[in-house]
Amino acid sequence: MVATSQTTGEGWSSRSAFILAAVGAAVGLGNIWRFPTLAGESGGGAFVIFYIACVFLLGLPLVLAEIFIGRVGQTDAVGSIRKVSQESKASPSWSIFGGVGAIAAFLIVSFYSVVAGWVLYYAGVMGLDLIQAIGAGEPFRGALAGESQEQIQQRLGDMFASPSLLLAMHFAFMGLTLYIVARGVSSGIEKAATYLMPMFFVLLVGLVVYGAIEGDIGDAMAFLFTPDWSKLTPQVMNSALGQALFSLSLGVAGLITYGSYIKEKSNLGSTAAMIAVADTSVALLAGLMIFPIVFAVGLDPAAGPTLVFQTLPFAFQTMPGGALFGFLFFVLILVAAVTSSISLLEVPTAWGIGERGWSRTKSALIFGIGAFLIGILCLLGYNVLSDVRPLGFWSLFENTDILDTVDGFTGKVMLPVGALLTSLFIGWKADTNLLRTTTGLSPLAFNVWRFLLAWLCPLAVTVILVTGLFPGILGA
Ligand code: PHE
Repeated sequence: MVATSQTTGEGWSSRSAFILAAVGAAVGLGNIWRFPTLAGESGGGAFVIFYIACVFLLGLPLVLAEIFIGRVGQTDAVGSIRKVSQESKASPSWSIFGGVGAIAAFLIVSFYSVVAGWVLYYAGVMGLDLIQAIGAGEPFRGALAGESQEQIQQRLGDMFASPSLLLAMHFAFMGLTLYIVARGVSSGIEKAATYLMPMFFVLLVGLVVYGAIEGDIGDAMAFLFTPDWSKLTPQVMNSALGQALFSLSLGVAGLITYGSYIKEKSNLGSTAAMIAVADTSVALLAGLMIFPIVFAVGLDPAAGPTLVFQTLPFAFQTMPGGALFGFLFFVLILVAAVTSSISLLEVPTAWGIGERGWSRTKSALIFGIGAFLIGILCLLGYNVLSDVRPLGFWSLFENTDILDTVDGFTGKVMLPVGALLTSLFIGWKADTNLLRTTTGLSPLAFNVWRFLLAWLCPLAVTVILVTGLFPGILGA
């Protein structure tokens, strides 16, 4: 490994460009697909309230910690951590966690693109249906008219059974991600965020209003915000903590990388707070968009991962304007997924540029194609390789297919390890003056921040890690 890093000299054009890109990175499948799925499965209110506590007590301090490292380092994650270590007279070996993060980001983007491919397919199906509806002079009819609930559900199975369909969608999505990343920070990533995020917010508000008018908002509010504390089991707490890390894009050095493109001095504390508040608001709004629709049609909120792909399309069938809003719903998820997947691919790409001296195009191609290939294994796990259990020797992953193994291993092992090392590094090792001057926090906020990073985060994250890896000790 080379001792010093190259810098590309690339940067955001303004503070708001950084915020938009970072919110784009945080808001993704995690908010619109995973959060409502988990909230539904875990019984609602208690999970939601515990999740919000995790975001602000653990997530927010880590968001600020990662942005701080990038801001000081001004290069890829490994180089940035090394720089902070040097300035803090700590061991340069801490930079290893930047490498672990980059590997995690690389693995996550491989299956993230596969799942985004499913969304792309559904956007296509609903789009064609909308065109037919318009052609028939009924633009406001329900979605997928004439299909029975079984037929709608069968679509998902049919899609999983077709390697070529899954591959085509994965290829299209990864190709787009690669293209944007290869174009660079300001003309690729920033530009994508500037176009896509406003579109995302308009769609989100539109769909929430639609759900409130056509759906059952009262039941949804009660479900999401009335806690039944008996449902807050250790497993539910564990999944809430893990989800908070995933949703805020923590532990994969994503915010270190994005933070390294901040050029001017700015108030990092308020920036971090805006990212955490925006990400959490979107997750809650996604719940307030999905559950009114689910309840209006009397469907099960605890459907699990198929909630979005089987429950909702059927719900859109029975609702006025369902063809139009169903289509917009999948476009919304797709937009959110693009701005997240580019942030994932950017982490290893920046590493190749900073630590290996590769050009941006070369680095993006190497990691983009690599992730594409791993993604192919993930999608084959739904059909031809459905018997493969990559970590089958490990009881935790005994019955887990390829995609869920990559997802589970990154989420349950790599992300918490990354978050744990980040909190220990900033909580104990980083130079206090450097932290104070760079973050610009008030003395009180600074002390609270450092305390949370030094004590609460390491403890809580260790609990996630241990309970995630050894579910037996929870008596599960
Ligand atoms: N936060 C993203 C989401 O919620 C996923 C992600 C994780 C993106 C890690 C970047 C880094 O979908």
